[in-house]
This record gives sequence, structure tokens and C-alpha cells, in this order.
Amino acid sequence: MSKTIGILTSGGDCPGLNAAIRGVCRAGQEAHDMRFLGFRDGFRGLVMDRTMELEPRMMSGILTLGGTILGTSRDKPHRMPMGGDVLDMTDAAVETFRKHHLDALVCIGGGGTLKNAVRLKKAGLPVVTMPKTIDNDVAGTDVTFGFDTALGIATEAIDRLHSTAMSHSRVIVVEIMGHRAGWLALGAGLAGGADVILVPEIPYDLDRVADALMDRKRRGKHFSILAVAEGAMSQAQAKEVRRIEEDKAEAGSKKGKKEAVLKLQAFYEQHVNHTLELTRALERKTGLESRLTILGHLQRGGTPSAADRLLATRLGTACAALLDEGISGVMVAARGEGVAAVPLEEVAGRTRVVPLDHPWVTAARQLGTCLGD
Ligand code: F6P
Repeated sequence: MSKTIGILTSGGDCPGLNAAIRGVCRAGQEAHDMRFLGFRDGFRGLVMDRTMELEPRMMSGILTLGGTILGTSRDKPHRMPMGGDVLDMTDAAVETFRKHHLDALVCIGGGGTLKNAVRLKKAGLPVVTMPKTIDNDVAGTDVTFGFDTALGIATEAIDRLHSTAMSHSRVIVVEIMGHRAGWLALGAGLAGGADVILVPEIPYDLDRVADALMDRKRRGKHFSILAVAEGAMSQAQAKEVRRIEEDKAEAGSKKGKKEAVLKLQAFYEQHVNHTLELTRALERKTGLESRLTILGHLQRGGTPSAADRLLATRLGTACAALLDEGISGVMVAARGEGVAAVPLEEVAGRTRVVPLDHPWVTAARQLGTCLGD
């Protein structure tokens, strides 16, 4: 008897999601005689039983489309806003799964999706995930789809900013997405020849950054480009975060833990302005006219690159084969030219940050790029 598979996309969208949906569904339909039921807007669709029959004809023309035909959200089944309350809707998710007699559920998403998938697995659902995000920060996979496209967009932005920075003899700070991991800022900064690259993994010293700009000026370079990750922070800010995290880990009571969590939230809420503050502080320190460009969601929109289409298709078709074999409780990860089925518990809750000895970091240092430390 043919299998019926549920599928959803969750978390921030990225280019390549539709290619992944097509990869799973078309391989499942063509090679394994499967039926697919899509859930709209991430886990909310599963909880509220909002479905979309994914017929074979719907897989035509979506390979090149940005976004996700299923819609997405950051909703979590165990903490879902419902009519003014925040409720644990895990049972409703399980009920929908059973109601449609599904054989498995495919969740395409990043770090948050992995945590939700583990919870659903514990509630008894056979779940398989595929790693997507422009941040490239999912543990257990060489790379995530969405990253290559965003890298191209951010690199092109840096290229374009070069000519205007040069014409006006300005410093331009470009904010690139990535809260916990600096893959995008580092990759685009290196590919675009940024003079300074700041990432969360390497807290910076403002004086060193200012010195690097002044040093360029002394050498007759009258403009500079700084590629700065959203989550980059100064050494003092990193120390503050470490201190709050230690308080959280050591808190003896629920109240103490909650207080630390609220402090962290407050820190990150305030930190959204940090690239503007950094731009102003550098202008004050160096006297060099400075501007800020925030790339924001531009990096997540539009057509996926060929590399992302290939990766999403490779993972999607491998996912269909695993579903056919009845394998679940795993993430379909990229490993070299092949794929690996990684147990969800091994990767959920872990962030893949840039190792300090990564070849991109070494290359940047050897070029004399300022990394702020
Ligand atoms: O999906 C990852 C990401 O793009 C991060 O780089 C960024 O910090 C975040 O999502 C933005 O989220 P939202 O789209 O919810 O504003």
C-alpha cells in the first residue's frame, strides 16, 4: 500500500525551500508511489489542520521559485499563541497526524524546527527533517540550503557598495544576517574583499577596528567596507552575555533562571541597533564619514542559486528514499557529495558556529583583513 507523507516548512524562509519540497514530493511520487499532504504556515498548519494536497502537477514550475508554496511561521507546537493565550498544542498536532493516517512527517527547517521535531518524535510521531537556513548554522550537516544564494546576494551588495564608498571616500558598514553564527558575513566579506569583517564568534575591540580604518587611510586608501554580522558584538558585550548565561546556568531557582532569560532577551532586543551604534562610534573615533547599509530580508528573497537547487534536490530525493525505507527520527544531512541520516537528538539544540581555525578565518587573517580582535 502506498504511503501518505505530511510535509511542512518552518522558521524563516530561504531560497531553495520549494526545490526541497519538489525534491521530496516528485521523487516520492515518481519513484515510490507516495502521496503528499502539505501543512500551511509551519507547525501552525499541523496543529490547526490546515492542509494542501500536493498533487504531482503542483511540482511543476516551483524549482526556481523563492519562498515556500506552503507558507512558513516560527510557531512551536508546544508554545503556540492561540486566541490571546500561549498553549501547548502538541496533542492537536498528533491528532492531525493520526486523522490523516500519515506514515511520516517531513519538517524542512533550521535549529528551531529541529527542536520542535524532537518534541514531536517524543510524542510518538515519525519525523524526518531537512536543514535549511541562510545562516548555515545547523549542526551535523556540511551546509544548509539557502546559504549559497544569500552568500551571492550579500557578496554582490558588497561589490556594489565598493563603488559608492570609493566615489565618496566613505566608510560603509554593511549589516549581514546571522545572529549566532558569522558564516554569511565572513563568506561574503571574504568574497567581496571587505576590509573589516566582524562575526559573533570573534568579539571585537572598537579601538582596533578604528585603527584598521585609520591605517588604511594612512596607506592612501580613502574608503573602507566593513562586513558585520547581525550578531557581532564587542568584547564588553560578549562578556556581559557570558555573565548572564553563567547566571542562568547557575540559578538555583526557577525565578533566578527566568530573570536571567529576561536579561538576555533585553540584551538582544537592544542589540538590534548595534550596527548603527557601531557606525556612529567609528565616525566619532576616526572622523571618517560613515554610512550603514542593512541588507535584511533581501538576503532571503528570490530565486535560489544553482548550488542551492542542487543541494535541496539532493537532500529531498534522499529524504524520499529514507521515507520509503521507513526510516524516521533523523535529519537528512549533506556530507561531502553524499547524504547522511543523523539522529535528531544529536543535532537539536546545537548551533554550528564558525570554528576559529576555519580556513576562511585563516585566509582573512593572512590577507590582513581586520577581524576586530
Ligand atoms: O532565518 C534566519 C534569519 O534570517 C536570521 O539570519 C535572522 O536573524 C532572522 O532569520 C530574522 O528573522 P525574521 O524573519 O523573523 O525577522
